Amino acid sequence: MAAKSLFVALCVLLEAAAFGPVPRITWEHKEIHLTHLKVEGVLNYTSLLLSEDENILYVGAREVIFAVKSINITEKIHEAYWKVSDEKSDACGKKGKSRQTECFNFIRVLQPLGDNVLYVCGTHAFQPTCDHLDLNTFQFLGKNEDGKGRCPFDPAHSYTSVMVDGELYSATSNNFLGSEPIIFRHSQQSQLRTEYAVPWLNEPNFVYADVIRAPQSNPEGDDDKVYFFFTEVSVEFDFLSKLLIPRIARVCKGDQGGLRTLQKKWTSFLKAKLICYSPENNFIFNVINDVFILKSPDLKEPVIYGVFTSNLNNVGISAVCAYNVSAVEAVFATGKYMQSATVEQSHTKWVRFNGEIPKPRPGACINNEARSLNYTSSLNLPDKTLRFVKDHPLIEDSVDPIGNKPRLMIQNVAFTQIVVDQVTALDGITYDIMFLSTDKGKLLKAVNQQSEMRIIEEIVLFPDMEPVQNLLLSTKQRKRYIYAGSSVGVVQTPVAFCEKFTSCIECALTRDPYCAWNKVESSCVNIFQDRNDDRLLIQALNGDTSQCQDSIDKGTENTVMHTVKSGSMVELSCSHKSKLASLVWTFNNERLSDNNPRYRLLHKGILIFNVTEVDTGTYQCLFQESLMGNLNSQLIISYVIELEKIPPPLLTTFHQILTEANLGTTQANTVGTDSTTTETPSTTQSKTSSAAVRNMTSRMPTTLTTATLTEIVNYIPDLGMEKAYLKNPSDCSLLIFPIVLLLILFISLLTYNCFKGFLPEPCLKYRSALYSGNKKTPPAFVDCEQGVNETLVSSQKQYVEPIKAPRDTGYETETDCGNGNIPHKEALEKTDMIEKDKPFDVKCDLKYADSDGE
Ligand SMILES: *[C@@H]1O[C@H](CO)[C@@H](O)[C@H](O)[C@H]1NC(C)=O
Ligand SMILES: *[C@@H]1O[C@H](CO)[C@@H](O)[C@H](O)[C@H]1NC(C)=O
Ligand SMILES: *[C@@H]1O[C@H](CO)[C@@H](O)[C@H](O)[C@H]1NC(C)=O
Ligand SMILES: *[C@@H]1O[C@H](CO)[C@@H](O)[C@H](O)[C@H]1NC(C)=O
Ligand SMILES: *[C@@H]1O[C@H](CO)[C@@H](O)[C@H](O)[C@H]1NC(C)=O
Ligand SMILES: *[C@@H]1O[C@H](CO)[C@@H](O)[C@H](O)[C@H]1NC(C)=O
Repeated sequence: MAAKSLFVALCVLLEAAAFGPVPRITWEHKEIHLTHLKVEGVLNYTSLLLSEDENILYVGAREVIFAVKSINITEKIHEAYWKVSDEKSDACGKKGKSRQTECFNFIRVLQPLGDNVLYVCGTHAFQPTCDHLDLNTFQFLGKNEDGKGRCPFDPAHSYTSVMVDGELYSATSNNFLGSEPIIFRHSQQSQLRTEYAVPWLNEPNFVYADVIRAPQSNPEGDDDKVYFFFTEVSVEFDFLSKLLIPRIARVCKGDQGGLRTLQKKWTSFLKAKLICYSPENNFIFNVINDVFILKSPDLKEPVIYGVFTSNLNNVGISAVCAYNVSAVEAVFATGKYMQSATVEQSHTKWVRFNGEIPKPRPGACINNEARSLNYTSSLNLPDKTLRFVKDHPLIEDSVDPIGNKPRLMIQNVAFTQIVVDQVTALDGITYDIMFLSTDKGKLLKAVNQQSEMRIIEEIVLFPDMEPVQNLLLSTKQRKRYIYAGSSVGVVQTPVAFCEKFTSCIECALTRDPYCAWNKVESSCVNIFQDRNDDRLLIQALNGDTSQCQDSIDKGTENTVMHTVKSGSMVELSCSHKSKLASLVWTFNNERLSDNNPRYRLLHKGILIFNVTEVDTGTYQCLFQESLMGNLNSQLIISYVIELEKIPPPLLTTFHQILTEANLGTTQANTVGTDSTTTETPSTTQSKTSSAAVRNMTSRMPTTLTTATLTEIVNYIPDLGMEKAYLKNPSDCSLLIFPIVLLLILFISLLTYNCFKGFLPEPCLKYRSALYSGNKKTPPAFVDCEQGVNETLVSSQKQYVEPIKAPRDTGYETETDCGNGNIPHKEALEKTDMIEKDKPFDVKCDLKYADSDGE
């Protein structure tokens, strides 16, 4: 009894902790047919470029570039190897790098340059090099340009690039150590770069860059802008340890640099923080992993989608936030600038600049207003404006997400990449479908409908859980595909698996905007592939499946006969792929309840002990899934049980069924979590007979999330599984053991972090408050910051040199020698100067923070 209540209590706790929607369906790798590109001896397929006009996918891997057909990436058209010479490799090894893993040419830039040329850069054994690849001959032209600023030296360093009108915009590190970050524009005529100074870029981890064109109707004569997304160490929040913060930065396409000040440097570089924060739970997402900019002629303006994780209070939760481009532009066009101020000599604080801002506005693109003042190019901008922007690249205002909260939050995954497709379903509504890849080789497909976020399905792209490093969506082909690159290969997957659903109700219940039931063909089809007559198609995105006529008679063809010996035990299996559905059994049209000792309802079937005459008849398995208040049922399979009269003639057929059944059930009988597989004792005792069930009704996924387990427990009264799960003490202890282990781990992690000072006190308080169910919502960053302020006050006297706890930021492998120190001193000098002639706030307890909604 005590164990039972403990189990239930833990499950409730787990449910509270398991956060966000559950994928309705999981497609295991072997259940679906995916197309692969994996070449013997080739690794690190991390650069992808799609040419939708030619239907070619270009893949940049380690020391090679492939051109493959975009409809079937297994079919290679061309390949071009670009290897590092032995001398180069030797020299690289002498610099202390590994010849086995690092001294190769990792392709990092793969961009179109004109019609028939690709611009390609590789790390080239820590000597970044760029070349042109002629697409007619698929051969390198041997240009061997110095690739500094375009391609990192070290394959482990972050990089991103975008080609805009023949000019390459790149963001990466500019030196061997990776300590000099740079945002760079390279063209034949000119080169522009960022100032090498902490206020501009502070240990950034670049994730994405793209251009957003000025709108067609452009009364202000505004310029096209290139946006960069990265996580960097904050300068504006004082933490003893480094506080990471997500950023958006932008430059103007027409920027030519300054004439004297900021010569060959950006005059239009501004950056602001991106907010991805959930006020309801006080979750702050401070690490941005990828961005997708949805540009569509149907949209009034592009929408920026970002995927975030956190290293603050909500480790283990990922989020998606979306931003309006107009909101971003407003921040850069009207936001307040920040400036550094020296507080008590040794340490700088960033505060809002309240003085007079020079004209034209520092960092603004050249528009009609500037032109009317005779500033036709950044080269003739006044020195005052340029000097100001050089010292004030940071905007105080933040870019807030649409709706002021994340679109999606989900626990126990780390999103790595995102692409978004826009589809107009049969209801005439346009849906943004998000495809999110994870660090465990999966792809999640999520859609937002009437403010409800659903995960339609989850696809296992890489069965060995390789992190997905690149994701591309092709929409122009008749069939839409997603391409995912990782260290071990590229996988191509269709955007939907409609054909896997064999009945109208199953097809409709997916509520997948891509899929609809075709009444004539009696099949579930992708409406973008075979869209002839919408009147023949049934979709139930609103949850109303009443149009499906076949809801109950479909299963009749799925009838399995069993002839068994009297007194034997029979297991009938039945399962459904939907994790949101429950199974219901009937016997001779009466619903079976769990309180009969003659049988036991299992997770994926039913076990009948000691079959006698009264147990013969028809057993039916139905799945039920409620959708917006409607309960949808569908017969999955019927079994007819007969008692064996005289042994012989039937024996052979029975034997066949038995063999088939055993094959099916050995796999179906394992229930486990991702890492551990625990046998359910009750189902393994005997497999007298059962049947392999076809198609959709076949095996449930072999992995079960804790969420599903709790869901099952919630169905206990319905399914009568309480006994099956709880009567057996080993069942319970098996589950409780990992939970207790996790609890201990969690507590030690918390203690460790507390000890190290990574978690300011109020955060800890919040955490305990979360688990006692007491929800408070203090604003983002502020409480953490206060915690640190307290620490600061008490430790300021002894504060000589910041002894920072070593933190792995994920992109800095070298010791911080060149980076922090010298420019930091410069920055201090600068701020000293400014302090003398510029007025600003020096209120130390100022809430310059960040706030959301304040
Ligand atoms: C892709 O091409 C390969 C090799 O030609 C072939 O074996 C495979 O069946 C094709 N896949 C699809 C989905 O057409
Ligand atoms: C702009 O420059 C032109 C020539 O350089 C000059 O003639 C004109 O007066 C200037 N206009 C303004 C508003 O300064
Ligand atoms: C974003 O734009 C959409 C439509 O253009 C608008 O409805 C929404 O209010 C905007 N949101 C924000 C935060 O600006
Ligand atoms: C390249 O792939 C190998 C094999 O998966 C992996 O161990 C290595 O870390 C990868 N290197 C880079 C730079 O991604
Ligand atoms: C099976 O049921 C029969 C009749 O009800 C009973 O005599 C027999 O002992 C039972 N066998 C087992 C193993 O429970
Ligand atoms: C689905 O099941 C039906 C009937 O059992 C069978 O005819 C059909 O071939 C199966 N389809 C697939 C894709 O296995």
